[in-house]
Amino acid sequence: MSAIRFLDFFRSKKSTLENFAFLHTDMHSHLIPGIDDGAPDLGTSINLIRDLHELGFKSLITTPHVMSDLYPNTPDIIRSGLEQVRKALVQEDIDMPIHAAGEYLLDEGFATKLMAGDLLTLKGQYVLVEMSFIAATPNLDQLLFDMQTKGYRPVMAHPERYPYLQGDLKRYERLKDQGCLLQMNLLSLLGYYGKDVRQIAVNLMKAGFYDLAGTDLHHERHRMALQALVADHKAAKLLENYKWKNAQFFSQS
Ligand SMILES: [Fe+2]
Repeated sequence: MSAIRFLDFFRSKKSTLENFAFLHTDMHSHLIPGIDDGAPDLGTSINLIRDLHELGFKSLITTPHVMSDLYPNTPDIIRSGLEQVRKALVQEDIDMPIHAAGEYLLDEGFATKLMAGDLLTLKGQYVLVEMSFIAATPNLDQLLFDMQTKGYRPVMAHPERYPYLQGDLKRYERLKDQGCLLQMNLLSLLGYYGKDVRQIAVNLMKAGFYDLAGTDLHHERHRMALQALVADHKAAKLLENYKWKNAQFFSQS
């Protein structure tokens, strides 16, 4: 076989991944209508949930942003949105168990919510948190410590996406030492957020640093990219060979 024909063969090799059923639960998405930058209305929310069902997920924990200024969502606001979604799923005959938590930005208002013990968790004590994409959280060490003192366990959303961590494995190791679980965005592996983010995600996988994977689904473009990811031979191989804890974590939730 000539070198060119060999390359063609390699490139056309089909993905071994059929869907995301191997993860069981998607624990990061924005599907409560109208309360953050995710689904703007109930119809869109139901369509996106139907899409996740078709992509193989067996259950969902959807995680609206909680930000002091932009999206001041409370557990009550999130719970009432969840009830609306659940009712519509029954009406539409879509069999998808769905729970809701928050994706908490570690901003100036987070400590107050933490002290009040008023956080909506993924499951048990696990709380999904995110940091600014622009600047490092000044009191990060203290917040992570305080969370654990209050009995919570932080799950850091998409660590590969914070440019100021500069892909430095020592910084991620530190987050883990500080008690964080790390959650990769699936689309990072497709290069959806850029080449650098993809490379960091690959490096973190190789180091075995991730615990969980999530879609962080906001809209239709993400859904289309998730389909492209299933068909991507290289990404599929990486995903399948990694020991994700999603199923073990959430299958009994
Ligand atoms: Fe998110």
